[in-house]
Amino acid sequence: MLEPVERQIEQMIKSLSHQEISRLYSLLPHGKRLRAKLILYIAGRGLESCKLAAIVEMIHAASLLHDDVIDDAQTRRGIRSLNNLYGNKVAIMLGDILYSTGFSQLVEFDRVVAHKISNAVTSLSIGELDDVNLADSFNTNRDVYIDMIYKKTASLIEASAFSAAQIAGKDAKLYGKYGRNIGIAFQMIDDLLDITSDSKTLGKPALHDFKEGKTTLPYIYLYHALENKEQVKLQNLHKKQCSDQELQWILEQMDKHNILQRCYKEAEGLADEAVALMEEAKEEKLVAIAKEMIVRKF
Ligand code: FPP
Ligand code: MG
Repeated sequence: MLEPVERQIEQMIKSLSHQEISRLYSLLPHGKRLRAKLILYIAGRGLESCKLAAIVEMIHAASLLHDDVIDDAQTRRGIRSLNNLYGNKVAIMLGDILYSTGFSQLVEFDRVVAHKISNAVTSLSIGELDDVNLADSFNTNRDVYIDMIYKKTASLIEASAFSAAQIAGKDAKLYGKYGRNIGIAFQMIDDLLDITSDSKTLGKPALHDFKEGKTTLPYIYLYHALENKEQVKLQNLHKKQCSDQELQWILEQMDKHNILQRCYKEAEGLADEAVALMEEAKEEKLVAIAKEMIVRKF
């Protein structure tokens, strides 16, 4: 179903008439294409919605290229990241080319759509800045975390759903709310998976986020559930290369205080709201996407 979107992206890249750009783009893994799927499910597979889906996916790909440089990531979707293969300069420049190509197509769209998408890109850039800055110290504020993941991840998903509805003459605000909810739930689940899924090399959870300084929702809730002395212990482990024993202690405390269940319930609550909105609108495929979001890899 995504073939017309892939063709649009290829055409936009081909129009740059630059072999090296085409080669580098062909090395990028496509991922789930969640944003493109939402747009096509909401607005159908006409030329306008396929173009919008292509633009959004190019912007998303650009943001991940830059994110991998910022995070010094070695892999992306299970294969070597572009910054790992060719260095930071190439990854940044390809990102610049992808998002500026997307933007030059976006100006052809209705003003409301062009505004919504471009504002979301500003928002995701601010979210990334907040994510990096928050990792300097142990953030214990839930609302600050939610605001950051809304900006970093949910804003472009929200804008995709809103814009697709705008194109299709549907209730854009309603679809935007759906996108916002599944976007926040998506990032919450992603952050939970960092704790629940086994690292391939170690065969046990590695808690990468915590090591990098990212106090995601489970760490925030754990902090507030702990006694004073234990709070200090947790804060002292922040951003450290923890020993097996220390990692074990964190996991045991999370277990003792039902932290993962609590976070999962919160993500589930957001997805349930999204499901209810789309059941009302009789959008079966969008109901299914919201449900899948929550069972992802669990
Ligand atoms: C992934 O977060 C990062 C994002 C969703 C947004 C990144 C945004 C920028 C770098 C701003 C620049 C924007 C453009 C258009 C060039 P993560 O590190 O938590 O997730 P990961 O595990 O997938 O890396
Ligand atoms: Mg990253």
